[in-house]
Amino acid sequence: MKASLTGKTVLITGATGGIGAATSRELIGRGANVVVTDIGLEQVTDLATELGERALPIVVDVTDRGSIDQAVAQAVAHFGKVDIVFANAGIANDPPLTVAGLTDEMYEKVIDVDLNGVWHTVRAGLPQVIENGGYVLITSSIYAFMNGVVNAPYAMSKAAVEQLGRALRTELAYRGASAGVLYPGWVDTNIAKIAMHDPGPVKELADHAFRGPLGKTITPERAAKAIANGMEKHSARIIVPRRWVPFSMLRGVFNMATDALMQRDAKVAGVLERIDRDAPGA
Ligand SMILES: NC(=O)c1ccc[n+]([C@@H]2O[C@H](COP(=O)([O-])OP(=O)(O)OC[C@H]3O[C@@H](n4cnc5c(N)ncnc54)[C@H](O)[C@@H]3O)[C@@H](O)[C@H]2O)c1
Repeated sequence: MKASLTGKTVLITGATGGIGAATSRELIGRGANVVVTDIGLEQVTDLATELGERALPIVVDVTDRGSIDQAVAQAVAHFGKVDIVFANAGIANDPPLTVAGLTDEMYEKVIDVDLNGVWHTVRAGLPQVIENGGYVLITSSIYAFMNGVVNAPYAMSKAAVEQLGRALRTELAYRGASAGVLYPGWVDTNIAKIAMHDPGPVKELADHAFRGPLGKTITPERAAKAIANGMEKHSARIIVPRRWVPFSMLRGVFNMATDALMQRDAKVAGVLERIDRDAPGA
């Protein structure tokens, strides 16, 4: 199935970030109405002004269920309906730290946005998606299946929201609606910069763990094209770039091998020792 996005209304959280803004532009180009939501008033207003009259700016903090409920209501009042909800807002723990080195507050902050925020977004948008035979797209990550060393709260959230998306797709099928999971690899945005934390031990670890093409970023525009294509097809999975497809498919075997290798790797041990040395939770 492939349905045109022309005339469809798409609500995006984290819409002014790298992937969110590029996707908003791509969707406007394909004829959709876009509800651009994010935490900054100036940012959502600027983006909506750039996008034109088919964009509606709304301030939303996904950690606050009430604010996303209100955004859905405003979107319905303005465009008449919401067909697609893109639960895209996300943060990474900054700086990346080990489980021992994090504070509980740092952990809770990431879980609140990346897991609970996605839950709130999905729950708030679901009645509209069901009513309109629409689609929910949940942003997970390659961290749903790669080892989340120094990014455990992020990787935990991304693995959890993958499960949310899979269950949702099955549960929505009898209602004529659908859901899918987005797995970006490295995309050139703020979050990727935090994870690479140039220069220092985090960068050394990332370079060591993600070698060759696996460490290369793609542009947000390339991710946005794959996302819009997936929205048209109501795809179950959008993996971008495609070089990550075999790692997702073979994760059972691959994860056992790479986890075992990393735990015996002297370079990894040395870098983790340096990351832990000045960590706030240590
Ligand atoms: N960039 C990558 O390499 C990469 C890889 C895998 C997954 N992702 C995921 O893609 C999504 C988009 O990230 P991005 O790469 O565009 O990064 P980004 O930092 O450019 O964008 C994230 C956006 O989320 C918004 N946000 C943060 N907290 C929020 C809150 N409480 N309520 C509402 N919005 C909030 C930010 O303001 C920002 O605009 C995230 O879920 C991220 O985890 C990114």
